Amino acid sequence: MTRVRESTKEYRHGPADDLRSLIVGNGFVGRALAAELRSKGMQVLVASRHRSESVLELELGAHTRAGLARLGAEESVDVIVLAHGPSDPAWCERHEEEARSIHVSAARAAVSTGRRVVLVSSDAVFPGTEAYCDEDSDIGPTHAYGRIKLAAEQVVLARSTSCVVRISAIYGDRREGRRSSFVEECVAALVQRRTFKAPIDQFFTPVALTDAVKILAAVIGYGVTGLVHLGGATRISRFGFACMVAEVMSLPESLVEAVPGAATRWASRPRNSCLRSTDFGKRFGWSYVSTPLKVGIKAAVVGR
Ligand SMILES: NC(=O)c1ccc[n+]([C@@H]2O[C@H](COP(=O)([O-])OP(=O)(O)OC[C@H]3O[C@@H](n4cnc5c(N)ncnc54)[C@H](OP(=O)(O)O)[C@@H]3O)[C@@H](O)[C@H]2O)c1
Repeated sequence: MTRVRESTKEYRHGPADDLRSLIVGNGFVGRALAAELRSKGMQVLVASRHRSESVLELELGAHTRAGLARLGAEESVDVIVLAHGPSDPAWCERHEEEARSIHVSAARAAVSTGRRVVLVSSDAVFPGTEAYCDEDSDIGPTHAYGRIKLAAEQVVLARSTSCVVRISAIYGDRREGRRSSFVEECVAALVQRRTFKAPIDQFFTPVALTDAVKILAAVIGYGVTGLVHLGGATRISRFGFACMVAEVMSLPESLVEAVPGAATRWASRPRNSCLRSTDFGKRFGWSYVSTPLKVGIKAAVVGR
């Protein structure tokens, strides 16, 4: 059994390092989380639509339940982590029903195994009218991706042993990732010395990938249940973030152009996508200090 520690100390290893996790999704988050859990000595299986030497094949959709049964998730796994796509909000906007069916059926299938489920969710479940959202803030997604993530959350949270971790936009070394995000497009443009148009009126609390997987590993290791928020320490506009990337890369800030969000492909995003982190110390007995934004960006763009 996992148990939350009573005293506040920095999280290093979960008390249940012999846990066996199945991560559904081998993308930006899933892959890094698998590496983090393995570095703590935990056993990890990864499943995605594309089988490889170390990745199991799992079709998402109508057959997810049968697929999880085939992988023996009911018997051989302690925790199922849902870190799969589709995760591109623009794609979800155009294919809402398909995307919903993938996310909701995966959540239902995972819950039906009787295993503990950890869902990686997003700030997109909020309307974005408040500067910050914590776990008690009123939900109200304004776009398809948020509605879909919320539907999956509701399935997972119906099971008291499960956990939903809402994370703000994650940044990190994405070269091996499949999806292009605001952060990745910003870095890619600046690396190539191209002008990047960044919304001046949209704010977020970006989280370093290294922090995101550290917290997810702790949530898994300590058996945390319920709803957890993870936001970066800095609330910044997308324009401000892009300027910081330029600064870290010693590029002229003039490469970054301030534009209204409505004039960009992130037009559907609300004014605020900012999460306030849980007080991990009070709630779970371990503390968390997020990586300073500039330090995290430097680590993410090094070598590009
Ligand atoms: N990245 C962020 O900033 C962020 C922030 C908060 C929450 N999240 C959540 O974390 C989860 C993972 O995000 P990510 O950034 O790791 O995404 P990603 O890099 O796009 O990876 C998604 C994974 O899901 C698999 N997948 C299965 N069915 C898919 C489908 N129909 N369409 C697209 N991919 C599908 C993908 O590929 P294959 O099956 O093809 O291998 C891939 O392994 C998502 O649920 C997202 O909502 C991400």
